[in-house]
Amino acid sequence: MNQLFARKSVADFEADVAEHGGLKRTLGKWHLTALGVGATIGAGIFATTGTAIVGDAARPGAGPAIIFSFLLTAVACGFAALCYAEFAAMVPVAGSAYTYAYASIGEFVAWIIGWDLIIEYAVGNIGVAIGWAGYFRELIGHFGLDLPAWLATDYRSAHDAFRLLSGGGAADATTQYLASAWTNAPHIGSIPLIINLPAVAVVALITVILIIGIKESADTNNAMVLLKIGIILFFIAVGAFLIHPGNWTNPATGGFNPNGVAGISAGAAIIFFSYIGFDAVSTAAEETKNPAKDMPFGIIMSLLICTVLYIAISIVMTGMAPWKTLGTAEPMITALRFAKGPQGLITFSRFIVSLGAVIAMGSVLLVFQLGQPRIFFSMSRDGLLPPFLSKVHPKYQTPYVGTILTGVFVAVFAAFANIAEVVDLTNIGTLFAFVLVSAGVIFLRRIEPNRPRPFRVPWVPVTPLISIAACFYLMWQLPTITWIRFAIWLVIGFAIYFTYGYTHSTLRRRAGVRGNAA
Ligand code: ALA
Repeated sequence: MNQLFARKSVADFEADVAEHGGLKRTLGKWHLTALGVGATIGAGIFATTGTAIVGDAARPGAGPAIIFSFLLTAVACGFAALCYAEFAAMVPVAGSAYTYAYASIGEFVAWIIGWDLIIEYAVGNIGVAIGWAGYFRELIGHFGLDLPAWLATDYRSAHDAFRLLSGGGAADATTQYLASAWTNAPHIGSIPLIINLPAVAVVALITVILIIGIKESADTNNAMVLLKIGIILFFIAVGAFLIHPGNWTNPATGGFNPNGVAGISAGAAIIFFSYIGFDAVSTAAEETKNPAKDMPFGIIMSLLICTVLYIAISIVMTGMAPWKTLGTAEPMITALRFAKGPQGLITFSRFIVSLGAVIAMGSVLLVFQLGQPRIFFSMSRDGLLPPFLSKVHPKYQTPYVGTILTGVFVAVFAAFANIAEVVDLTNIGTLFAFVLVSAGVIFLRRIEPNRPRPFRVPWVPVTPLISIAACFYLMWQLPTITWIRFAIWLVIGFAIYFTYGYTHSTLRRRAGVRGNAA
């Protein structure tokens, strides 16, 4: 039991860096903020907000009160962000929450978090790649181009649309397009071959950029982040002129807060996806010039910037169109479509917003694809995953094997998966990681009160406890099937730990309490 809770000291981490070679330290505090914003503003705000506003078969929508959903989630993330900042400044090596848990709670919990973070980064990126593909199609449509549906959607969306049409359901353009995937696809036996080609292509491209190097990638990211903030400000500015306050207050659609606390909470659990990413800043700790100061700055500043933008977007969006019309995969485009104003301006804005969405999600993909191999890198360096995952490229000094494997994993699932399911799973996994990090702060303050903490969470244990309660509250809003999938994922993780990680752990080897395998 003691061995399961063996902890890795900061000196141990430093010894590993010396033994394996570290990563290049090139990033400053605004690089990190850009990394956070780059990871955060993406499919969540551009694609999932529609479901959060209108609801779906399993949950009520928030309506215009989505603004409170964004505030609620921002508060939950804010408390967690403080906890991440304390750890990131104190344990400035690659690996994020995984590394913190190893330093505070011990190996077994660290493994659980590392395994769980695959859901946040790799599974999350599957969702973003699918969201990206949707807007990409929208964008090329402005140039008169299109893709056959069987090359641009997933099996389940096509099947659902096909069944809806066959049953005499709504025959809008989107449903017809998706259903055509089912009928027009080449078949293998009786199974239609449906793959999301743009999603696969974008993941492949990002993977190549990342192998070439983090500095180059951070510069690409900075440019994308500036562009996406510019485009969002453009949407807010145009939208502000198209607001009809009646859309917020119309009694026929339930007024401003049609489904009360239930709608706001269900919405908050969905749009949590739009906040995931500020914590990705911490995965770059080992590549940061001055982690003690820059880490807390980068994490908290990126959360702040995103919160302000999200609230402004949701005020404008629900003011432009009746909220019940916004339940699409492109709610910002839909809001423009329903807005009353000069048609030329609206068409131009739709083009700009679809371009913005493609750029925004591209930069999310970049940061997440960057984070996942670095978590693998740390876990492998610790012996919990096979050694090839901590190989550094001789020329580019990047963890290239993990980068390629992540790219392949994300691309394969992005080719076939359904975005809604992927988003729910990502949210539960990430919320659970936030819970463990917050608990880790309390725990480490107890057992090592004197360890130097360049950044300290105020009012411990109250702040981390609020963070834990808020995260559980959001997890509780997610569907049962998501809980089941998450439980299965954890069980697979336990099996891998006990058959591989436990016996290969470097920490145990160093401590002379080696298991039965080297
Ligand atoms: N927060 C990221 C996004 O919304 C995951 O795309």
